[in-house]
Amino acid sequence: MLSLRTFYLFLLLFLIITSTACTHIGINESNSLFINRYTEYMLGNIPEQYADIKNPLPVSKENISEGKNLYQTQCMMCHGVLGEGNGPIGELLVPQPANLTLTRRLPIATDAFLFWTLSEGGQLFNTAMPAFGERLSDKEIWQLSLYINSGFTI
Ligand code: HEC
Repeated sequence: MLSLRTFYLFLLLFLIITSTACTHIGINESNSLFINRYTEYMLGNIPEQYADIKNPLPVSKENISEGKNLYQTQCMMCHGVLGEGNGPIGELLVPQPANLTLTRRLPIATDAFLFWTLSEGGQLFNTAMPAFGERLSDKEIWQLSLYINSGFTI
């Protein structure tokens, strides 16, 4: 029979191993990927109005360059010039702003994911990501999505 003392020792060992493992893969680090947003999206916990929504705008030079102008005034200070999450304000935040050059390559970065994230921001998760749904028009949010998807070009 395990004594209570041995049980507690095992429990302690287990907690130490799991917490160091988390640090090892970066989950507890301030600049690690912010996974709560991905989890919520994958569980389908986003408001119905965003589910399966598609970008109605054509991928035109005009829309992408409008997106770029918006990005420079609304996002760059946090997400950085090339979207890498390293803007001057962004570097001070925990969690840090996402690296959008990485985000755009993930299968999760659908139109719905981007529109929901930009509209509602980080209120749900207590992060500094602002909710742009009230500040910007739908068209502007879609233009920003096109700019992110373009890989920060033009
Ligand atoms: C005040 C700083 C700040 C500003 C300004 C800001 N963001 Fe963010 N953003 C964050 C932070 C912090 C996160 C990570 C936490 C989160 O997802 O809520 C984030 C996350 C994101 C994500 C989620 C990406 C992922 O992989 O999880 C997207 C997309 C995004 N931002 C786009 C934008 C766009 C586009 C703008 C401008 C319209 C913008 N952000 C402006 C701080 C900011």
